[in-house]
Amino acid sequence: MSDLWSQWLLHGRHADDPRLQEAMRAVVDRYIDRVLEGAQLTAGQTLVDVGTGEGLVAFRAMERVGHSLRAWLTDVSEPMLQHARAQAEVRGVLGQCSFLRCPADRLEGIGDASADAVTTRSVLAYVADKTGALREFHRVLRPGGRISLGEPLFQDDAVEAKAIKAVIDSHPAQGVSPLLILLHRWKAAQFPDSADKISASPITGYGERDLLRFAQEAGFLELHLELHIDTGPSIVRTWDAFIHSSPHPLAPTLSRIMSEQFTAAEREYFERSMRPVIESPSAVSTDRMVYLTARKALA
Ligand SMILES: C[S@@+](CC[C@H](N)C(=O)[O-])C[C@H]1O[C@@H](n2cnc3c(N)ncnc32)[C@H](O)[C@@H]1O
Repeated sequence: MSDLWSQWLLHGRHADDPRLQEAMRAVVDRYIDRVLEGAQLTAGQTLVDVGTGEGLVAFRAMERVGHSLRAWLTDVSEPMLQHARAQAEVRGVLGQCSFLRCPADRLEGIGDASADAVTTRSVLAYVADKTGALREFHRVLRPGGRISLGEPLFQDDAVEAKAIKAVIDSHPAQGVSPLLILLHRWKAAQFPDSADKISASPITGYGERDLLRFAQEAGFLELHLELHIDTGPSIVRTWDAFIHSSPHPLAPTLSRIMSEQFTAAEREYFERSMRPVIESPSAVSTDRMVYLTARKALA
């Protein structure tokens, strides 16, 4: 059984390339450790990990806290919940886990004031009603309970697609570089490229200050937000891995975009132009993550 979430988490993000998979896992582990530092879990507590995917946040929390930690692992994706359950069995922690299929903004089945912490890692980005989800997190937390979220920011990628479009639109058709036109076709297939589409999309219609405001509107106190922007050597080292992976679950791969939207001559020209850039040892990538922690009032 597979859906778009399992297809991306288990294959599409690393193109089934073992070196990329390993490098990506190291990056994700860093994000997860940061989220768990913010959750401040202790023995005997209950965690709700929303949009659990493979269950990595919950399993790491169990490694850190031990056998007395209980966790709800929730997700909209049945294939991912089945995958997480199988992983829990392999790790010998099935007895600590409860699995729940539900959207982030309707955690039906989890009682009011029953959890000590709620975590998400790259989940709210895909939720249209982020304040609604944060209200649900607030509902299930006991007084004094904490949220710790780590979410990617894709707004700048969309702004880049919009900027390329603006350059194309401001030149007569013959004056535009053919490479720029193909770059735009690629980027616009993965990110919205107009102001209206950027603000309407759940993945690009928010910035770090919006996340803070949504959490305040949901009733959280003692908010702390960190925006981490890291540039460094790209972990995607080969053209094949680059074209067969995609930057988020809703984005088609470049390979698919090229086969559906490029002519054979355009594909050949684009690869000739871009492969050396992607495979250059000096290729860099930029990562934008927001970490937010906050607390529910004590009384
Ligand atoms: C990028 S993955 C992150 C998975 C996991 N949190 C991690 O850190 O590895 C996004 C996850 O959110 C889930 N998801 C997507 N939309 C959701 C929603 N509206 N409510 C709850 N989960 C959702 C997907 O099924 C997927 O497992």
